[in-house]
Amino acid sequence: MNKFPNNFFWGGATSATQIEGAYNIDGRGLATCDCKTAGSFVKRREVTFIDNDGQQGTVPSSLGMSLPKGAHQAILDEYFYPSHEAIDFYHHFKEDIAMFADMGFKMFRMSISWSRIYPTGIEEEPNQKGIEFYKEVFRELNKYNIEPLVTIFHGDLPLYLEESYQGWENRKLIDFYMKLARTCLIEFKGLVQYWLPFNEMNDYLLMLDMFGNISTKESHKQSFQMIHNMLVANARTVKLAHQIDPENKVGSMICGIPNYPGSCDPNDILETRYRWEKGIYYTGDVQCFGEYSPFSKRLWDEYEINLNTEEQDFIDFKDGVVDFYTFSYYMTNIVTTHEVDDIVQGNFSNGARNPYLKYSEWGWSYDPKGLRYYLEVIYDRYHIPMMITENGLGAVDKVEPDGSIHDDYRIQYLQDHLHECKVAIDHGVDLIGYTMWGCIDLVSASTGQMSKRYGFIYVDRDDEGRGTGKRLKKDSYYWYKNVIQSNGEAL
Ligand code: BG6
Repeated sequence: MNKFPNNFFWGGATSATQIEGAYNIDGRGLATCDCKTAGSFVKRREVTFIDNDGQQGTVPSSLGMSLPKGAHQAILDEYFYPSHEAIDFYHHFKEDIAMFADMGFKMFRMSISWSRIYPTGIEEEPNQKGIEFYKEVFRELNKYNIEPLVTIFHGDLPLYLEESYQGWENRKLIDFYMKLARTCLIEFKGLVQYWLPFNEMNDYLLMLDMFGNISTKESHKQSFQMIHNMLVANARTVKLAHQIDPENKVGSMICGIPNYPGSCDPNDILETRYRWEKGIYYTGDVQCFGEYSPFSKRLWDEYEINLNTEEQDFIDFKDGVVDFYTFSYYMTNIVTTHEVDDIVQGNFSNGARNPYLKYSEWGWSYDPKGLRYYLEVIYDRYHIPMMITENGLGAVDKVEPDGSIHDDYRIQYLQDHLHECKVAIDHGVDLIGYTMWGCIDLVSASTGQMSKRYGFIYVDRDDEGRGTGKRLKKDSYYWYKNVIQSNGEAL
């Protein structure tokens, strides 16, 4: 009892723009993140632009942000852009993968940079150098028997598609994406078998509830349409992946934030249920059941949504259900209909402070039991294998004079969360893998910082991009190695 199954996928997770760097090398085109500055917990990241008259400017980065008419995103000299070099995985991948192998990884989650394969997104032929780069990475992983888990789209759209087509709101994106997905599935056949077509598409709804000021009918229309288009592309990718190689397994990837009611007031209970429907089940049901939940109609009515759909979309949903359910887990969220003056903001949750929990300095709650709760609720709903493809602690680490890093807080965090995974398994959840987020330090997605570190491996780079890029082993590195060696017995 209380054991991880044999062949459990122990590993780590990353995304292209948070690690690769080499943003303008070997034919890669610009992606949306390349014009995003660094920020911090108190300072939002900004997007830089040049307007029609050649004037430079910035706008806070957010969903639905708009630039002045005629302006286009641009890289400006006086700003620092963390994605440009990130941790330079592009040139260090052999060294990094050797360290993952030394820790005993069975799986490594990474994503494809779309603009490395199709620089603007509209080319007919892919960029061979981009394909070759990923093939080399996959071969290197295969050399150590590390299974790649590949996210095809982790939020980094080619800038051209964003600016010329208004991004995912446009149905044309489905075809552009399918060209990318087909290329990946054909080119990487035999090297990759585990795929995640999209990262956290439910973010586009969660964000609306996080930032009250952007929660309008119009922004909901945009988000629902973007998600519909992504869901169609997702289903078609699942179907195609199975046709191209019957060994392929394709998963969902959902931002998993369990909602707790703030009180036993029935209004809080109903509001909490609503938030599950909107933020968690809306995308998950289409991916796992092949159809929208019956409660979706309520959401569409509420925001007067008239989705632009085609009959074939709904057939594709049925034919393209995922093989397994994956999700990220960092925190839980309190939902209340009552006035509260202590709101905590972190990632995509923004509820009242939970007096039973601690919070990180970025406002993220520390709730290992919430992970068990999510696993059990979701497994109960879908009955398909589950994988945690993101979980971890962003924290400031201190390098000692001898180069050691004593991150006992991270070890504690992982111990507590893995313990709850064990309990969930014991309770009947078919959990098949755990890839810890940011297994090597990387650029934070929300703040653009390096100092918000997640890794087992420290990378010597700071928030302004200074540093040698040298890799150092933290205490958690040795701890995780032991966990994997004992298949989770020695937590
Ligand atoms: C997830 C994203 O929601 O959160 C990752 O998929 C991101 O890309 C992770 O890095 C952690 O968030 P942050 O802002 O600490 O990097």
